[in-house]
Amino acid sequence: MIETEGLTRKFGPITAVEGLTFQVGRGEIFGLLGPNGAGKTTVVRMLSCLISKTSGEARVGGLEVGNARDALAIRKMVGLVPDNVGLYEALSAYRNLDFYGKLYDCPGPERAARIQMLLQGLGMWAERDRAVQTFSKGMKQKIAIARALVHDPQVLLLDEPTTNLDPEAARTVRDFILERKKDGKTVLLNTHNLDEAQRICDRIGVLKGHLLGVGTPQEMEGRAGRRQTVIELEQVTPEIRKAIRPLVASFREEARRLVVDVADPERENPALVEAVVRAGGRVLSVTAGGPSLEDTYLDLVRGSP
Ligand SMILES: Nc1ncnc2c1ncn2[C@@H]1O[C@H](COP(=O)(O)OP(=O)(O)OP(=O)(O)O)[C@@H](O)[C@H]1O
Ligand SMILES: [Mg+2]
Repeated sequence: MIETEGLTRKFGPITAVEGLTFQVGRGEIFGLLGPNGAGKTTVVRMLSCLISKTSGEARVGGLEVGNARDALAIRKMVGLVPDNVGLYEALSAYRNLDFYGKLYDCPGPERAARIQMLLQGLGMWAERDRAVQTFSKGMKQKIAIARALVHDPQVLLLDEPTTNLDPEAARTVRDFILERKKDGKTVLLNTHNLDEAQRICDRIGVLKGHLLGVGTPQEMEGRAGRRQTVIELEQVTPEIRKAIRPLVASFREEARRLVVDVADPERENPALVEAVVRAGGRVLSVTAGGPSLEDTYLDLVRGSP
């Protein structure tokens, strides 16, 4: 549904996106991860025909991005949640959606039914007659998500849709995205939330100007190749830190837990636990932690200039 080949965008001397080649199939949720300034928003803006590409190819539903004749059809096919919501503040939530629905030529009765379905799905139906300017950031974000879907687009381009949302609202939106996938929609999701990417994306791409890696969440996790032992203690003391430092390559602390990188857990764990106990540590649990998406992400991003 989305295909790019060598897609590149420059802003004067800055190359925001360079030689990007990837595909997203129909009904697939593809997550784009990457540090601030990596080019994620630029990709989404090119695909939704808001800005032009400098070179390379991009197709949405077989239509050429950058071809003036296809621009309108692409815009109809795509629902965009931009990084800044840009709603009409003085209008009510309902009126905002109704206005966009009209712009997209949705017929009246169908439009009303869709707006109701979307606002109910996002838990915003009761607020439909309030002016958007009286909404919190998260409430506005939900209206922007509803707006992106009002014309029933085949492709969703979501630029950090859950950034301003509380955990419950973020869950609502994630479930909502998964429902759209069930309807056969194709989703490109920009996010900084690795956990979110892992939970809902079929595949993930790590971007930093160019694509550093692509794979399923499981493939991406495994790529870091590290293994970890997690030791939960009553308390982590300086003595414990001192005792384990010579035994391991590296470790980090998460509250009362030591997360230790190990090459061979079966060989290293007994000595590790013994050292902790000898240093006065009271061990509550010892578990094996697998390599995480975060490890792979950090390896990729830090390893690239
Ligand atoms: N209109 C513009 N004019 C000049 N430079 C721009 C413009 N838009 C983006 N850039 C530059 O392009 C690069 C990519 O920006 P972009 O907004 O795509 O990153 P991003 O991955 O979305 O970052 P974030 O995670 O912070 O949202 C940055 O270096 C940015 O400064
Ligand atoms: Mg961005």
